[in-house]
Amino acid sequence: MKFSIILGTRPEIIKLSPIIRVLKKINMDWHIIHTNQHYSENMDKIFFEELNLPKPKYNLNIGSGSHGEQTGKMLIGIEKVLLKEKPDVVIVQGDTNTVLAGALTASKLKIDVAHVEAGLRSFDRNMPEEINRVLTDHISSYLFAPTEIAKNNLLREGIEENKIFVVGNTIVDATLQNLKIAEKNENVRTFFNSVVDNNYFLLTLHRAENVDDKERLKNIIDGILETARIYNKEIIFPIHPRTKKRLKEFNLFDKLKNNKKIKIIDPVGYLEFLILEKNADLILTDSGGVQEEACILKIPCITLRDNTERPETVKVGANILVGDNKEKLIKSVEIMLNKKKNWKNPFGDGKSGEKIVKILINKLEK
Ligand code: UD1
Ligand code: UDP
Repeated sequence: MKFSIILGTRPEIIKLSPIIRVLKKINMDWHIIHTNQHYSENMDKIFFEELNLPKPKYNLNIGSGSHGEQTGKMLIGIEKVLLKEKPDVVIVQGDTNTVLAGALTASKLKIDVAHVEAGLRSFDRNMPEEINRVLTDHISSYLFAPTEIAKNNLLREGIEENKIFVVGNTIVDATLQNLKIAEKNENVRTFFNSVVDNNYFLLTLHRAENVDDKERLKNIIDGILETARIYNKEIIFPIHPRTKKRLKEFNLFDKLKNNKKIKIIDPVGYLEFLILEKNADLILTDSGGVQEEACILKIPCITLRDNTERPETVKVGANILVGDNKEKLIKSVEIMLNKKKNWKNPFGDGKSGEKIVKILINKLEK
């Protein structure tokens, strides 16, 4: 029984790490195919090191590009490897171009696809991720939905129930496993002390629909600056390379950088980021994974988007959507700061990795 794990970006490395740990422990025949969609050291290598993952057996070195170019190159590279390796199943996670390319290549070679984090829907087809999710779900043989909401999205689209398994989200496994490690790590403590002086809010921003649109990005930045002023908080901002590039292009970078309340730092490793999340008074984000982690860690979250494919976080009271609306943002900060942090994590018990591997082995043995 052979497993090919295809990954390419920061969140995929993090969210697949619990599955890799299980495969490693039980001595399965498996390997990693890395598209290298993310390649900067602090978006890629640092996660392999911190999460103690073996080096990918294949690195396709695809890097950045337009959607068509990037996805096309991935199809070519992945096909070669899959023809050689002939795995029984290909595992992909999430909604990136890597995921679509991995699933599409495998399905055309008649190799079963296991989609981890299946069934998420923002119902916004302007997002490249929504296209990737829908297409991947419809060509997958095993759909690992994190919640009942995700399962129902799949059923509504006519996907057969016997392909869907509600297993929670592997981000719970990753968060719980690594928070413990992070809390004991001296280097992480030193990092934290070097960055944090006072109480702070944590910010991440990278969605294409936010940062590639000058007007929208400007509105969000204005809102952030106003929030820092009104609430008299420092805002720590590990900046995604896409966002840094756009802020510079739109002449917004200096305004942010020169503001004393905003602390822009390079993207940080997972252990460092978990500690920044855990100690923040509030998290402002447009990230998928960060919305989930905030909810798991019981840190109030404000999502800088008009919609979310993680409605569970809003339902349990852990998250509010504000889009790029400054007034809504400022009001929501007040609401979230006064919130009792007694919500329940809707994404499972931290054993998703084990459940997924067990189900796959069972199915493949038949
Ligand atoms: C991608 C995913 C997005 C996911 C995000 C996780 C798609 C369509 N988008 O977005 O769903 O939430 O990863 O972070 O798959 N860059 C670097 N170094 C890197 C990677 C990117 O400098 O290691 C810069 C390049 O200028 C590149 C830009 O960031 O053009 C965008 O990278 P890309 O992988 O296309 O999309 P992300 O915004 O990272
Ligand atoms: N993350 C990190 N360092 C950072 C910013 C984020 O380790 O500087 C982690 C974060 O903990 C989460 C994941 O990256 O698990 C989210 O990735 P991202 O926001 O890039 O993508 P998305 O989840 O939106 O697809």
